[in-house]
Amino acid sequence: MIYTLQDINPKEYEGSLIFLYGDECAERNLPLGRRELESVKRKEEKEKSFVVGFDRLPERLYFVRFDSERPAPEVQEGLRRQAVEVLKMMEKDDVKDVALCGEGTLPEEMAAFVEGLTLADYSFDRFCSKDRFHVDQLIINSVYFTQEELDAQQRLWNRVFWCREWVNLPVQDLNAAQFAEELQSVAESFENVKCTVMDKRKIESLRMGGLLAVNRGSVDEPRFVVLEYNGLKQSSNQAIKQSPICLVGKGIMYDTGGLNIKPEDYMQEMKSDMAGAATMASVVFAAADNALPVHVVALLPLTDNRPGFNAYAADDILTMYDGTTVEVVNTDAEGRLILADAIAYAVKNYNPRVIIDAATLTGAAVRAISTFGIAAMQQNAGRELEMLKIVGNEVYERLVEFPMWKEYDELIKSDFADLRNCGNTPQAGTITAGKFLAHFAKEVPYVHLDIAGVAYFTKAQHYFRAGASGYGVRLLYAYLQMQ
Ligand code: BES
Ligand code: ZN
Ligand code: ZN
Repeated sequence: MIYTLQDINPKEYEGSLIFLYGDECAERNLPLGRRELESVKRKEEKEKSFVVGFDRLPERLYFVRFDSERPAPEVQEGLRRQAVEVLKMMEKDDVKDVALCGEGTLPEEMAAFVEGLTLADYSFDRFCSKDRFHVDQLIINSVYFTQEELDAQQRLWNRVFWCREWVNLPVQDLNAAQFAEELQSVAESFENVKCTVMDKRKIESLRMGGLLAVNRGSVDEPRFVVLEYNGLKQSSNQAIKQSPICLVGKGIMYDTGGLNIKPEDYMQEMKSDMAGAATMASVVFAAADNALPVHVVALLPLTDNRPGFNAYAADDILTMYDGTTVEVVNTDAEGRLILADAIAYAVKNYNPRVIIDAATLTGAAVRAISTFGIAAMQQNAGRELEMLKIVGNEVYERLVEFPMWKEYDELIKSDFADLRNCGNTPQAGTITAGKFLAHFAKEVPYVHLDIAGVAYFTKAQHYFRAGASGYGVRLLYAYLQMQ
């Protein structure tokens, strides 16, 4: 989609038009004829928000009424979703070129609408032989944004799309080594993003027992990728001296479950089990794209989880990077094993201000809160999680906090090792996973984001089509903007 800023007088504009309007319909300034105005007024008596299309053959007018009186995040989310309705109408009408303006609409309301339209316009097309419908050009009335603001937003949306694209790619097209190579080549386009790719030998020499164990049943080698971006302080143009924010992402390129193989339809969609890694990489690149004044390091353990000949087995006892021993009880609880090594590596080597991880970690998170948000936990990071909740409400990638009470520690104690890799009861599966990881963060402020419910949608959900969502990229970008 091409975005163009332009002066538009809605009453005179000759192409197809989207018109946003928040208040009662005053007769002045609206690009409506008398009968159209009457029909809009009749609708207004019944509803505070609606989308209606009018013919201006050969053009179309999409009239979007929204309820401007609700709290700002809700108004903005409403507009994102109304944009999806407009996009569906445009597809039906085959309108690919459209101008956008409003009356009494705030810039952030207009921005939300553009965001909804943009996010909904993405689809995973690379294996489709037929062309799919996409908007060619969106002309936006220039009173709302500067070109720089629009460019910065667009760079962020593109990172969301890249995240979705990586997650949507099947494992046969994106294994650990290929993903690492891709990340390296993106990093090379930035002066201030350093990418370190560690191969199997290096991972062996570091003794990352979790990552190596999960990889044992695979024919593809693992990788451990570290992406470091250090922005410039705006006042002095010097690199940020602060210790970094470490972002750890689960990078299971495919999760078969391993020897505890997943039954029937539970395996489908497990190409998305690297969504945490894709999210964290995308956040670092988005921060670099827009030169945010932050110091961030993404740590991405990558492998698939397969039941090949030498696959790790339940009862194996692993020694992790930090020396903790772990009894494997279920090879399908593999995410926490690779994340534990990455978290411990961050603690030991980066002196992080905070560690935040994102992981498609537990089916229990989906059962608890469905597909409407992230299950979050924290240890020594109450303030950070509060900030994440606030920006989460703003960008509408929401978090709900689960408890980390000490009683849960009992559930992951092992008879033969320091920890077991899943709880000794099926209860509180999301929390025991978070507790397991928190052990490796030690005293470092730590936030755990279980994105199992939101990273990948079986069915379309407003501006997310079926498939990868990129959920979390806008959240963490907004969090970095607050630093
Ligand atoms: N990748 C899965 C979790 C998952 C399930 C993500 C559904 C997205 C949708 C994870 O590795 C897993 O298999 N977890 C097990 C843990 C159990 C064995 C303790 C689970 O949730 O069933
Ligand atoms: Zn698993
Ligand atoms: Zn998994």
